[in-house]
Amino acid sequence: MASTLPFTFIIYVFFLVSQCPTGILAAQNPLILPAGETGADDWNLEILPNITSTGNIVFDTVSSLLQHWPNVRHHSGHTIVPATLPVGTLLYHGRNNGSFPASPEWASTDPEFARLFCVDAADECWLLTLVVTRPLRALYFDGNSAIKMPDGPMDTQDLLVWGEVLPERATLEWEYERLRGLCDLGRELGLDAFIRMNLKFEVMLCDFTDGVEIASFSKLETEPTFPHHGYSFIQSSTWHDRPPGETRIQLDLSHLISLYDVALAPSLVSQRLGKQRHEHRVLGIAAEDIDAVMHRLRTMQKSPSESGINWSSLFQVIIDRYAQRLEVLQSTLKSCDDHKRAFRILRTMLMPYLLHFAVPPHTTAGNSWAAPIFRQCAQTHTSFMSSLESKLTASERLLRNAVEETNREICRTLVRMWASGVVERLSGPALLAEWKTDVDRLMAWLDWSAWTTCRPSCAIDESCYLPGAPFSMDEWNNTSVQPKCVRVFEPYTYTDLLWG
Ligand SMILES: *[C@@H]1O[C@H](CO)[C@@H](O)[C@H](O)[C@H]1NC(C)=O
Ligand SMILES: *[C@@H]1O[C@H](CO)[C@@H](O)[C@H](O)[C@H]1NC(C)=O
Ligand SMILES: *[C@@H]1O[C@H](CO)[C@@H](O)[C@H](O)[C@H]1NC(C)=O
Repeated sequence: MASTLPFTFIIYVFFLVSQCPTGILAAQNPLILPAGETGADDWNLEILPNITSTGNIVFDTVSSLLQHWPNVRHHSGHTIVPATLPVGTLLYHGRNNGSFPASPEWASTDPEFARLFCVDAADECWLLTLVVTRPLRALYFDGNSAIKMPDGPMDTQDLLVWGEVLPERATLEWEYERLRGLCDLGRELGLDAFIRMNLKFEVMLCDFTDGVEIASFSKLETEPTFPHHGYSFIQSSTWHDRPPGETRIQLDLSHLISLYDVALAPSLVSQRLGKQRHEHRVLGIAAEDIDAVMHRLRTMQKSPSESGINWSSLFQVIIDRYAQRLEVLQSTLKSCDDHKRAFRILRTMLMPYLLHFAVPPHTTAGNSWAAPIFRQCAQTHTSFMSSLESKLTASERLLRNAVEETNREICRTLVRMWASGVVERLSGPALLAEWKTDVDRLMAWLDWSAWTTCRPSCAIDESCYLPGAPFSMDEWNNTSVQPKCVRVFEPYTYTDLLWG
């Protein structure tokens, strides 16, 4: 049994350092071991995640489904998820005349969106409200998937409609053709609808008389309303900006398809190398991978999930445990004068894993003594799943892997920082600079949308708006765009939005 370093001593050493580092770079960076050596020590705190792994991205995309902001930030969707619209859901469709849609058309879960589609009418605005009378089966495409841009948002739809990605068809002219193609596939697979995101979520309904009833079909006044209907549209979109997102649509995560699944779409792995996340595309996928995706789609409902795991809850638990505290840690290190507080935050996050027996030996350098803490932290949310292996669907194995990889890297970074704090006794400002580098790298790797928000928060007559499609196309592909407060009443502050 190793001797225990007195706790009071550990605390004491943090009082010794009070200087802010000045331009000192991290002295120690984690290594990447050469291929082949990665299995040598599973709990080596120095081994970074493999650059070809996508667990962090799957984790972020899955925990961002049906939310507005994350899907503006990463507009090229890679995920296709079976969804249900429950009985009683209201769907809205706006048009210029009172004739009932006889073919597939668009609807929305919020009337503010549907209202936009009668805005150009000379004198008539009709709002059709439908109510769902049996659970409607749908497929949801993540990303900014209703935006007709050739650089990615429509890639996954193209695969299903045309069996290949055709960027030149990302135009208004192809929309009905695309919808007809989706509905043809829908008939084959027993699907009623397809769901995409513009600024809000739209439901592309294949039959306006099957599984839905007319709740009302009304001719509305066409006078301009205040706030301007563009603003009320933006304001209403904020309802779904962040978790829990659009709650009327229920997703079946245990059968989702992700093009970030390296087992399902291996041809995309090399394509992503050296690219930023916003440059990732489905374009370029190999024909055999498309076949695998279509096969998965055609067989997905034949193997219902038996695991009983609530995946969305598990993902949210991990975000809850770390998102805010990582942000506080980052800001503490940025102000760089409070190492005691930084260490306390680390200890608070790692509290359930700080094993009494894991203490640094007096003799050797390094941090292998902290490996049991790393293991305990990294396995805590997923180790029980090994006994459920046979019950997990292929999608659930992807989800488990995403949770495992993500949680593991959070734990590795935090335990490594904490251990260096214990061992190095905070001997100088280099440690703080190193910690700062570690936290910045971890947060960039996680890339959670929870960290995108208006600071300070907006006034009551403002909306926190993340510039992007469809109103702020100048910001398309601008990865550093930050949300801003826009007034929803006059005097408007963001005049680009004044249209129509
Ligand atoms: C990363 O993973 C790939 C694919 O599994 C493997 O071929 C490669 O050797 C790994 N790289 C490292 C550095 O471990
Ligand atoms: C009614 O409006 C829809 C779309 O707004 C259009 O497709 C349709 O042709 C119109 N029908 C008539 C009878 O004008
Ligand atoms: C799963 O957890 C979420 C909260 O993240 C909750 O809204 C949902 O009802 C849960 N699902 C089931 C089937 O219990």
